[in-house]
Amino acid sequence: MSHIVAPSILSADFGKLNEAFEMINQSRADWFHVDVMDGVFVPNISFGFPVMKSLKKVAKKPLDVHLMIVQPERYIEDFAKAGANILTVHYEACTHLHRTLAAIKEAGMKAGVAINPHTPISFLKDILYITDLVCMMSVNPGFGGQKFIENTYSKIKELKAMADSQNLQPYIEIDGGVTLSNAKSLIEAGANALVAGNTVFSAANPMEAIEALKNF
Ligand code: DX5
Ligand code: ZN
Repeated sequence: MSHIVAPSILSADFGKLNEAFEMINQSRADWFHVDVMDGVFVPNISFGFPVMKSLKKVAKKPLDVHLMIVQPERYIEDFAKAGANILTVHYEACTHLHRTLAAIKEAGMKAGVAINPHTPISFLKDILYITDLVCMMSVNPGFGGQKFIENTYSKIKELKAMADSQNLQPYIEIDGGVTLSNAKSLIEAGANALVAGNTVFSAANPMEAIEALKNF
């Protein structure tokens, strides 16, 4: 199966969000990547339910929602109602991660775990079997357009080996600093989902950038 490309709407022009949504609908992108930030877990505030509501009305593709918020378990039902298809919480934000992932699935969504660059892959060993997607942060979360952290490659390989050893096939999603220069190596290392904000929305032709990311 070819890899997933998920443009992050965080990098879109918020004055022209509908245009961005339609562009993604018409492109070869697979998912909408929706970055929700609370100003506590990360030093930035992005957007929440009102924006998701407008997106859900027009979206023809699944919403891959990345929660960069503390105590995400408080909002599982709300995100299900707002139309999230995949709901990803941060390992670092969850005291009872197993319970939170189970509740996400119970609410009818796929369950994702995001890990910050400093969090070791080995911490996922006992949770991987109920994880549909691992969102591996390749920048420190909070902002689009940051520089890719090279150590990510070895983490991808380690995660792929761990998943193989448990006979599991989670999405291995790379989030942050994905470009047309590193996409191919990321896929070769074992990634099967790429988030792209800046690479898509700073391109002269965003649809072509998505096409290029799909074609690796
Ligand atoms: C970072 C977000 C990312 C970000 C990616 O905190 O989780 O999804 O928008 O943007 P780029 O691709 O520009 O690094
Ligand atoms: Zn993200």
